[in-house]
Parts: sequence; structure tokens; C-alpha cells
Amino acid sequence: EETIEAPIIIIGSGYGGAVSALRLCEAGKKVILLEMGLHWEKAGIPYSNLLKPGKSSAWLKKKTIAPFMNIFSLTPFTGTLDRLEFDNISIWVGRGVGGGSLVNGGMAVTPKESYFREVFPDLDSEKFYNHYFPLVREELKVNVIDEQFLKDCPYYKFTRVGEEEAHKAGFKTIRVPNVYDFKYMEKEYRNEVPRSALNTEVIYGNNYGKNSLDKTYLKKALETGNLEILDLHKADHIQLNDDKSYTVTTQHINTSGQVLAHKTFHCKKLILSAGTMGTLQLLLKSNTINNLPIDEKVGKNWGNNGNFMTGRNWVRPLSGGTGSKQSTIPVGGIDNWEDPEHAFFTEIAPLPMGMDVATALYLLINRVDKKGEVTFDKTNQALQLNWNESHTAKMKENAKYFVRKMNNANGGTRSHFLFNNGFGADICYHPLGGCVLGEATDAFGKLKGHENLYVLDGSLIPGTIGVNPFVTITAIAEYCIEHLINQNEFT
Ligand code: FDA
Repeated sequence: EETIEAPIIIIGSGYGGAVSALRLCEAGKKVILLEMGLHWEKAGIPYSNLLKPGKSSAWLKKKTIAPFMNIFSLTPFTGTLDRLEFDNISIWVGRGVGGGSLVNGGMAVTPKESYFREVFPDLDSEKFYNHYFPLVREELKVNVIDEQFLKDCPYYKFTRVGEEEAHKAGFKTIRVPNVYDFKYMEKEYRNEVPRSALNTEVIYGNNYGKNSLDKTYLKKALETGNLEILDLHKADHIQLNDDKSYTVTTQHINTSGQVLAHKTFHCKKLILSAGTMGTLQLLLKSNTINNLPIDEKVGKNWGNNGNFMTGRNWVRPLSGGTGSKQSTIPVGGIDNWEDPEHAFFTEIAPLPMGMDVATALYLLINRVDKKGEVTFDKTNQALQLNWNESHTAKMKENAKYFVRKMNNANGGTRSHFLFNNGFGADICYHPLGGCVLGEATDAFGKLKGHENLYVLDGSLIPGTIGVNPFVTITAIAEYCIEHLINQNEFT
């Protein structure tokens, strides 16, 4: 067993970890980044698509774990997508160098300023809308689809139909920016380059076109020469030492998940960016097994960002449905946020099944009226989530209202094809909170009661942000790390 010394360790290479790594490396700091998933680009293994799931499609599972249609068997491999099961909710997360950016839909949405102010009353919203949000949109390479291409491309029939139907039902639609390079997509449509979004690649990774973090923040951080990324290194627990340094116990695994070595890292400064569930797992487990001190607010103020899936069957069956060819990259949304009775935003989501199923899929994002709590169950040595139907009751009401209004105006039925009763209350892509900025941490992400431990990821956001969250996670991380560096926390 070896102990590796490092001044600064970051655990996790998603948005929070990638931002922290870049800004620290630019400031001349040496950083080791531990990531439990694979460095796909370095490994040179291609990602698989939805229709032929292979190595990248699931984290060490024998069967695929997409939200629908899991008919495919797999040989367990350290894939990009994982699903965490709790009593009333399943949470999907990304694994690999780039975290969630490898598997997500790339929707790069800036929250509504009024809601951002409501969620973060202590932050200077002007500074965020004038500086941090524009900064991260540039770093993440956010762009917008060309309207003419959208109009002409058969792969966006689902969006055109979705928008027409929404207008007919009296809803307002918006164009949704994305990190997928739409100029690349136009070229793939013309068959000038290999296809990716137009070849059903997304939740198991994109081989081309998508500007995931390995192509943006992490690439820039590596170019400084100050960053070392250790992939397939899973942090198990952390320990606070008498001199206020930290020891991180990790398992180095192979791509079948077998432990190759137990490795111990020792650092003065530790940044947890393991994603909401990963960071909570590390903090709560370390607290349980070796008394890592944690603030009583850790685990509290957790939410699913109002995620609520629903769908409609028999969508224009006589006029070609939603299209047999579908891009995996969503570009349309319905904005009903200002409706005081039924406030929601919904993505007009693709359902690229390789055939026309005349089905429309929607991922609603609602307010979270009732927050949940994450704890650690000693007996099962696993996270536990206090979350049940009462937490999603209002979300379901909104989904019912939405589907009813759409069907009344356009025809169609509640989707029994996708969900048991037409609703997917238990599907969560956006776990947020549990280590909330200014509650469990100080104003810049330092964990309360600690001098050298920081949390920088989705767990800082109190369970809701009203839109898809990665632009906000990235902006908050930029804000925090800038202040931490300026306060000389890392000298
Ligand atoms: P993130 O989860 O990105 O990264 C954490 C990293 O830490 C992971 O790589 C993980 O493997 C690693 N890790 C965890 N525990 C560890 C341990 N113990 N040791 C070592 N490493 C560890 N959002 C959005 O804005 N637009 C969108 O279109 C979508 N679409 C979408 C689709 C799907 C299918 C999913 C699953 C998610 C989305 N999201 C999304 C959500 C978005 O991807 C998510 O909010 C962010 O990735 C969260 O960023 P974080 O930095 O918090 O962690």
C-alpha cells in the first residue's frame, strides 16, 4: 500500500471539478484529480449509441439502464451512465472523465433571473448575469441551432411537431441553447463527417460534435501542465488528520470493476466535486465510519429539481407522428413558468427509437415545494433518501394539466407506452442540494467546521433552479473558486 502526497486533491471531474481544476491550474497550483470513471478519450474506446448499447452504456451492469426499453444484455464494464436506486426515485448520473457532461443532453440553459434571486437571495445576481453566466457559456461553447436547419431537417420533426402542438394548446415555446456543435450537426446531416447526434448517440456518450468537459475546461486545465487526472480511482472515504490535512482512501479499479489496488492520498486541501450524490456519499459515509465532522445541514435541502417525466401517445399518427429519425439533441422547450397555478418548464425531448412511435416525451422541471433529505444508513452502508409521493404531488398535478391541455388541443393520449400510468415521477436527472451554499458551507463552498475542505458541485444548489442545471453549477463553481483563490485559500 502506497501513500501519495499532493497539495490539492479534487474528487470528481464533472462541472464543479473541471472548473476548480482549470482555475487552480491557471493560478499555478498542482492538482491531482481523482475520477472513478474511465478517461474515454485516453482509452480510445468509442461510445455506443442507443440502438446498439455496448461498453459505454452502463456502469458495471448486466443490462442497460436507460429510462425505457432495457432489453439489451451487457458484459459489465465501467460505462458512462449509472443509475442509483432509492425507495421512490431513481437517479441517473454520469461516470468518466467529464462526469455528467458525457451523458447529458447538452441543454445549456441560464436560469430566469427572478428565480435565481429567489433561490440564491444572498448572491449578487447582477454579477452573475453580467459576468459568470456569459463566461461559462463561452467556456462551455454554448451555441444555438440555425432556424432554417431546424425547419428543414427531418431529424427535428419531433421538435417542430412539439412546438406547433404547444402553440395550439396556448403554451409559449423557447429555443434552447446547447453545447453540441450545431455546425457539426449540419455537416453530419450532409454526410460530410461521421454522424453522432444523428446516429442516436447521447446518454452513452457522443463520439463527435458534443463539447463535453473533456473538450473544454478539462482540456484547458491539462494544457497548463499542472493537472494530473487519475481515472478509475474511486474515493471510498476521507479522514481529517490532527494537522487539519486530509487522507483519502481510494480503490483503483479496472474496467471490469475489480480492485487492482487500495491507494491512500494525503493532501492539505481537498475539494469534493463528486456530484450531488457522490459528495453526499463521501461526507455522510466518512462521518459514519470515522467521525469526519460534518455540519448538521449536510444532507438537508435536497431536491430533484422538479424533474417529472411524462409523455403522450398517438401524436399525429396519420401525418407521420413525431418522426422515425430523431436527433438526440433537444432544442425546444415549453415555458409555462410565469403561470402562478402551474409553473413549469419542459423540454420537448427526443425519443430516438429507430422507428416512428408517434409518441412525445417531455421532461418537466417544476418548483420543489417540499425538499427531501439524504442520510447514511449504517446497516446497509448506503445512502438513504427521504423522498416520496408527497414531494412530487404538485409536479404530478402540473404534468396532468399539461398533458390534458395538449391532448385537448391536438388529440393524443396519456403515454402508457412509456410509463405505467402515464407519469414518470421517479425519474431524476438533476439531483441538487444537500450541501447548500451558505447553509452547510460558508459563502464560497468551504464546509462549515473545516479549514481545508470545500464542496464545489451541484450539491451547493438548494434542490431547485427551474431549468436544466449545469450552466448554473458551472457559474457557481466559477464564482466560488475565484473567491477562494483570491482569499489565498490555496497558498
Ligand atoms: P457530475 O455528476 O457531473 O460529476 C461528478 C463526477 O464525480 C462523476 O464523473 C463521477 O463519476 C465522479 N465521482 C463520484 N463519486 C466519486 C468517488 N467516490 N470517487 C471518484 N469520483 C467520483 N443538465 C443540463 O443542464 N442539461 C441537460 O441537457 C442535462 N441532461 C441530462 C441528461 C442525463 C441523462 C443526466 C444523467 C443528466 C443530465 N443533466 C443535464 C444534469 C447534469 O449532467 C448534472 O446536473 C451535472 O453533470 C452535475 O454536475 P456536477 O459537477 O455536480 O457533478
